[in-house]
Amino acid sequence: MKILVANWKMNGLFDEFKRYFDNLLSKSIPKDRKIIFCLPYIFLHEASILTKDYLNIKIFSQNCHHEPRGAFTGEISCEMLKSIGVSGSIVGHSERREIGETSEMTNKKIKLLLNEKMTPILCIGEKLENHQIVKDVVESQIFSSLYGINNIKNIIFAYEPVWSIGSNKEVEFENIKKVSEIIYEFCNKNYNDNPNILYGGSVNKSNCEKIMKLKNINGVLVGRNSLNIESFERIING
Ligand code: PGA
Repeated sequence: MKILVANWKMNGLFDEFKRYFDNLLSKSIPKDRKIIFCLPYIFLHEASILTKDYLNIKIFSQNCHHEPRGAFTGEISCEMLKSIGVSGSIVGHSERREIGETSEMTNKKIKLLLNEKMTPILCIGEKLENHQIVKDVVESQIFSSLYGINNIKNIIFAYEPVWSIGSNKEVEFENIKKVSEIIYEFCNKNYNDNPNILYGGSVNKSNCEKIMKLKNINGVLVGRNSLNIESFERIING
C-alpha cells in the first residue's frame, strides 16, 4: 500500500474545497493507495464527514498545539482534532520550524497525537548548507523528536530536503535513496522496527512513480501539485 499525502498549506477557499472533494469522491481511487489530505483547519470537519465511508482516504491537519489544552489563544489541540474525525497531523514541517517549532515542541506534539491514537507525520530534512552533514541532521531530528518514545509503528516519517520544498529543482533520486537508507538503518538500530518513509519536495506527476519505486520509500508528500484535482489525480493514478 503506497501512501500519498496532500499538504494544501494555506491554500483554498471553502467553495474550492467543496468542488475539489465532490470531484475527488466521484472517482474511484486505486485500492493499493492510501490518500491523506492535510487540510487547513477550517475544512477539516466537513472533510471528515464527506470522507467517512472512504476507507483509503484519511483527513489530517497540518499542525496541532504541543500542549493538551488551556490558555493558548488561537490554537487547536490534538484532542479537538480527534473529536471531529481527524486521524493525524503533520509535525515538524520545515515551514513551521522556520517560525519557531523546536524539536522539543515536535516531540510533545507526537506524544499527544499518539496518546489520542492519531498518526503523526514527522517531517525531517536538511537545509542546503547542511547537505554535507545530512546524516547527522536527520538522525538528530529523529532522535530529539522521538525522545521518550520507543515505538515507531504508528509514526510516518517524511524526508523533505528543505531546499527542494516549493522549488523547481529536479528531484535527486540518488539523494533520496541515500537518506532513506540512513533513516531506515537508524530506526532499525534504535527502535527495532522498519520505518514508514515518505519523500516530499517538488513531487509531480513525472517524478512520482520513480520516487515511489525507490527502496525504503512508501509514498510521497505533495504540496503544490496536490492543490489542483487534475494534477493530484495524475499523481494518485500513477
Ligand atoms: P512542494 O511542497 O510539493 O510544493 O514542494 C512539499 C512540502 O512542503 O511538503
